[in-house]
Amino acid sequence: MDSYAQNRDRLLTSSRPRPDFEVVGSQGPWLHCADGTRIFDGSSGLLCTNVGQSSPKVHARIDEQFRRYSFGGAAVVQPRIQMELMDRLCLAVGRPADSVALTTCGTLGVEVAVGLARNITRVRNGKLRGDILASTLSYHGMSALTLALAGNHARRPRPGDALGLGPSFPAPYPPTHVHEGHGCTASCADEIAKEIDSRGAENVAAVLIEPVNGTTGGAFVPPDGYLHRVSEVCRDRNVLVIHDEVLTGMWRTGTPLASQHWDDCEPDMVILSKGLGAGYTGVGAVLVSPEIAPFIRHEDADALPAMGTMATHPLMAAACLGVLDELEAMDFTAFAARGERLGQAMKSLNGVGPVQDTRGLGFLYGVEVTPGQLWPVMKAAEERGVFFYPFTGAGDPKSEGLVVAPPLTSSDGDIDFLITALSSALDAVG
Ligand SMILES: Cc1ncc(COP(=O)(O)O)c(C=O)c1O
Repeated sequence: MDSYAQNRDRLLTSSRPRPDFEVVGSQGPWLHCADGTRIFDGSSGLLCTNVGQSSPKVHARIDEQFRRYSFGGAAVVQPRIQMELMDRLCLAVGRPADSVALTTCGTLGVEVAVGLARNITRVRNGKLRGDILASTLSYHGMSALTLALAGNHARRPRPGDALGLGPSFPAPYPPTHVHEGHGCTASCADEIAKEIDSRGAENVAAVLIEPVNGTTGGAFVPPDGYLHRVSEVCRDRNVLVIHDEVLTGMWRTGTPLASQHWDDCEPDMVILSKGLGAGYTGVGAVLVSPEIAPFIRHEDADALPAMGTMATHPLMAAACLGVLDELEAMDFTAFAARGERLGQAMKSLNGVGPVQDTRGLGFLYGVEVTPGQLWPVMKAAEERGVFFYPFTGAGDPKSEGLVVAPPLTSSDGDIDFLITALSSALDAVG
């Protein structure tokens, strides 16, 4: 037995089946395997390698910073590169006056946002408790707190270990709500109003929500008007709205932020992560609107939440600047056209072989298949040179499918390849 086979069970990574191709090189959205073949990354790694791999722009930025100095926590040197990142990021996503907290990953971004929301609403509104409400079909990270708040059935702790927390309101998606012609309207946001009122608004700090669902349900899109109604419900009750755009932010759905597909639903805080580090670095960024940021500096406010030893790491900030260089150099007209083409192709897969439903926006789609068919489809796709990230959602039996989310810098030829390989895999499984 070789050392890989001997050691693989000692490395505690994931309970899911692991791919067995060995990667020895990469270029953009393609991985080069030891046996001389290449495979297309159909879900951008874990929905993060948004500008592909081996970017010269990212490399140049890291190299430049490495030659200056590598470590410099906030209390050690002036955080100039972090401020440069903050400025570029806020401009890029259309929130130029926001304040920003930087962390090392999405989970810690959510944790910091929770801390800030509690602090702000205590100072601003004299809240008694800092409850955070999240939906039944959501994922907000892997810490004990974020797992206990969210509804991801596969990762939630056992009831006895769940700290008595969430999830708190039904997600606006099947099976709790059906929409898009099946009857549900944005009024399903009123479930949130009921929940806040039953706890007492004085006990609720924030509603935490993914504006477009990520991997928990497979790229569900809320009904038009839903996010606007959530904002109204919360504003009327002095409850903050936090959008978790860890997965959907940085153009994944076609716009800088997923919430920008709709009017009048700008959140008080946004959390970004995957597409900002783009797989080159761990990072999380919490953007706080200028309307509420002053409360963080108020004399009655608590200290800022601790962001962690590595939170403002200069090499991490340099990598993110390189990612922004890549994103801002994109041809946005061609990018929009490719997203449109991908969307049309996903729509046309409805009913093909085991496909039960497709949904999504921009460069993010869920392809739901008949229960039991997910792993055969994944295998057939891999045999055709493309791999995808799987999802298992809600319902009984649980919905299942794959997330189609190629790197945003994929070419026309790459997108054609993905569509052809996936269609053929679905046909083959039947
Ligand atoms: C919506 C959402 N929030 C939070 C997280 C946690 O981010 P991380 O894995 O970087 O801690 C994820 C990760 O998949 C996510 O999809």
